[in-house]
Amino acid sequence: MKNFTSFADAGDYKALLQQALEIKANPFGYQEVGRNKTVGLIFFNPSLRTRLSSVKAAYNLGAQVWVLNAGTDSWTLETVDGAVMDGSTQEHIKEAIAVMSQYCDVLGVRTFPTLTDREADYGEVFFNKIISYATVPVISLESATLHPLQSFADLLTVAETKRTERVKVVLTWAPHVRALPQCVPNSFCDWFTDIDWVDLVITHPEGYELDPIFTRGARIEYDQHKALAGADFVQAKNWSSYHDYGQVLSTDPNWMLTPAHMAGTNDARFLHCLPVRRNVEVSDAVLDSPNSLIIQQAGNRTFAMQTVLHELLK
Ligand code: CP
Repeated sequence: MKNFTSFADAGDYKALLQQALEIKANPFGYQEVGRNKTVGLIFFNPSLRTRLSSVKAAYNLGAQVWVLNAGTDSWTLETVDGAVMDGSTQEHIKEAIAVMSQYCDVLGVRTFPTLTDREADYGEVFFNKIISYATVPVISLESATLHPLQSFADLLTVAETKRTERVKVVLTWAPHVRALPQCVPNSFCDWFTDIDWVDLVITHPEGYELDPIFTRGARIEYDQHKALAGADFVQAKNWSSYHDYGQVLSTDPNWMLTPAHMAGTNDARFLHCLPVRRNVEVSDAVLDSPNSLIIQQAGNRTFAMQTVLHELLK
């Protein structure tokens, strides 16, 4: 593993998943890997889980860790190549990333999409620029199009709680008051379409089709109740339109997940990456039900990150 930005970077996912299960069973058993190593974390956007689970993962491995909130903790960073920096920006990311690379052995970076420039977002122009300026391996803490650490934690959660060899997993769109990125659903599809014991079904209102590069022929069912029938796992998430880029095309409350929606499933376990807007995306009754795995899922963010750090630092 050179960098960790997508499912492809995971390589042999079965081996990586096995490693994550072993690390979870013995979280402090790999401290030699992190000894005298430093993990740097740069956030261009807010975070709760990614930030804290990454710090915890580094500590579990015996590594040092520093965190920078870019722009607020540091000089205001310029991202445009060739910019005449006579405005508000004070330092170019070209120097900033190269300098920060000298202060760590692996660099985690979070950069959200613009949701206005699809070409730049889906070309991962900003994230790729960071990789090109870095002199250490880079881990995506969520980029413009993908959130691989989240999906790895989702896979770990499904793998450790599934009750049958094969499972039906449904990714359902949920309503929201704001336009959100497609990173989490893109990444969920990027990972789950290639798991040989998963039958993935995606459901959303028309107009919310994701980039087929990530859905890769997975079944799309526009009738949410039909999609949920017989599901073993349900992952809910809002996203804005990919085709009508960044637009909110629907806020239909009928798509909010309730016990009535879950009734047609195979007593499905419920997943959400968090944060969640209660009683907008998902009802309290679903989030607080015994089948809800959301806290365990967030806990697994630590072991997903620890496994990736272990691969990059060992
Ligand atoms: N799920 C997730 O990435 O949470 P944060 O945005 O709080 O890090």
